[in-house]
Amino acid sequence: MSKNISFIDGLEGILKYREIDINQLVELPYDAVSYLLIMGELPGDQELADYSARLRGEREINREAIDVIRMCNFNIDSMEALRTIVSFISQFDPDINDNSPEGNMRKAIRLIAKIPTIVAAYHRIANGKEPVPPDPSLSHGANFLYMIRGSKPSDLEAEVMEKDFILSAEHELNASTFSSRVTASTLSDLYSAVVSGLCTLKGPLHGGARAEVMAMIDEISSPEDAEKYVLEKLAKKEKIMGFGHRVYKTYDPRGVVFKQLSRQLAEAKGNMYWYEIAEATERTVIRELVEKKGKPIYPNVDFYSGVIYKYLDIPPKLATSIFAIGRVSGWIAHCFDQYEKKKIIRPRAFMLDEC
Ligand code: SDX
Repeated sequence: MSKNISFIDGLEGILKYREIDINQLVELPYDAVSYLLIMGELPGDQELADYSARLRGEREINREAIDVIRMCNFNIDSMEALRTIVSFISQFDPDINDNSPEGNMRKAIRLIAKIPTIVAAYHRIANGKEPVPPDPSLSHGANFLYMIRGSKPSDLEAEVMEKDFILSAEHELNASTFSSRVTASTLSDLYSAVVSGLCTLKGPLHGGARAEVMAMIDEISSPEDAEKYVLEKLAKKEKIMGFGHRVYKTYDPRGVVFKQLSRQLAEAKGNMYWYEIAEATERTVIRELVEKKGKPIYPNVDFYSGVIYKYLDIPPKLATSIFAIGRVSGWIAHCFDQYEKKKIIRPRAFMLDEC
């Protein structure tokens, strides 16, 4: 098993999961990358088949969860519903307080498998439709799009969704992963650690940025308008959503792939409009902040992924939950590491000045 769950070189713009570069990993199924993160090495063919079968067998959520979703306030963000339902279904898991490796693996499978179903069920019910049961013949990405739409996605759309989940899956000790890790370090259960991650990811400075990017793209009426929009924001000292990063001081390597995928979708759909607005926004931010002021503010993981969600006709209210669908495998990998250590994380207040 490779020691480091992930490796980031913020100056060179490199990201690796278990020592494998993400540009190689995006060519694999999400299930294989999820297995890599949690088990520490890539699965063989039979291991992958068994892991995928376990995930697909656990995609359904119970009637009680559907009933609670029906009682939700449909004006909330899907992350608020997801946080509630993950917590609710934990009481039905017989392994809830079994922190043995086997017990935690069973819970990990259920969480990875059920979170997309919860998000899709909330989306359908909030829009006055019945939930679509998961289709075990479809990949993680294709099945999610199928459950929110009620019809199967194109091969390109399914491929893009898989890659989105892979690129979102893990990123060392980001805020939500740290939050999950701290919860697991007290030997609290895996559902509680994932709920901690969900609550933290929701923030607009973190996972919530994708929805903000989507709203920004809608606000910019044309590629020509992008420059004016950015200049006005910067003049008011406001941050441009989807740009900047605490660790990357160059282009986020995930953003590079997301940009390529968003262009592929734009060309396939014969609609360059949102892509061109995004490119014009990027050009202006780079010119104004990087070239003129020397500030390393580049597109991060949330900029072009927000553009992709527009091409996939995904509403902004689902954007952060989709980030969580990918990231839950990373949270779980870090939690498993913490369960193995059996050592509580207890920083000192002065360390906060360094964070
Ligand atoms: C994620 O940690 C992770 O790995 C997170 C993540 C993951 O995979 O888990 O990568 C996912 O959260 C990506 C980030 C998504 N958030 C956004 O896109 C929101 C917009 N970005 C900013 O809020 C900001 O860039 C942060 C929060 C991402 C990083 O902020 P830092 O490192 O704390 O930088 P800062 O706020 O101290 O800013 C430093 C300077 C400031 O200018 P000065 O005061 O020095 O003059 O850079 C400027 C900032 O104003 N700046 C920006 C900017 N981000 C920083 N200016 C304009 N637009 C921006 N987006």
